[in-house]
Amino acid sequence: FTEEQQNEDYLFKIVLIGDSSVGKSNLLARFAKNEFYPNSKSTIGVEFQTQKIDIGGKEVKAQIWDTAGQERFRAVTSAYYRGAVGALIVYDISRRQTFDSIGRWLNELHSHSDMNVVTILIGNKSDLKDAREVPTTEGKALAESQNLFFMETSALDSTNVSAAFQTVVKEIY
Ligand code: GTP
Ligand code: MG
Repeated sequence: FTEEQQNEDYLFKIVLIGDSSVGKSNLLARFAKNEFYPNSKSTIGVEFQTQKIDIGGKEVKAQIWDTAGQERFRAVTSAYYRGAVGALIVYDISRRQTFDSIGRWLNELHSHSDMNVVTILIGNKSDLKDAREVPTTEGKALAESQNLFFMETSALDSTNVSAAFQTVVKEIY
């Protein structure tokens, strides 16, 4: 193998899914560029970033895909999920409605990808303590019942953002 071919072996496709405005694009911006956008607009179509991740001294590349939560702005669903080996399903801890949608996102993920796709449930916006509508214990319980990893994150203050992506990549690897 050439060096390039060898590197290809470690390019993992990971998809971000969840309702509109839960913070998918900001989680990716925080992770890949250490940036945060207080007034970001809805994603249109699909965007992705490739990010190097260190797993026990080995360099792994993750290609992280991001699309809109709203149907009308979304990329073609089958193409979005094709080849994905990891998924982050995101809700907003300050909006119960986004947590209630998780079942639908899981169904969509499972109908378009391999059952073995490594999945983490993410309760984002953990910085919004006073506005919390979904207790941590509920997120954890749902994740356990569905066999998912679980973490609460904040793209705003960076809490657990790298850890969340690393959890997925580590398990794939
Ligand atoms: P769509 O592209 O429409 O699906 O939305 P999205 O899930 O990509 O949400 P986006 O990242 O655009 O964030 C929506 C809003 O929430 C923006 O105003 C962000 O600044 C804000 N936001 C994202 N993450 C956090 C967070 O961790 N904490 C707080 N307080 N706000 C956040
Ligand atoms: Mg977005």
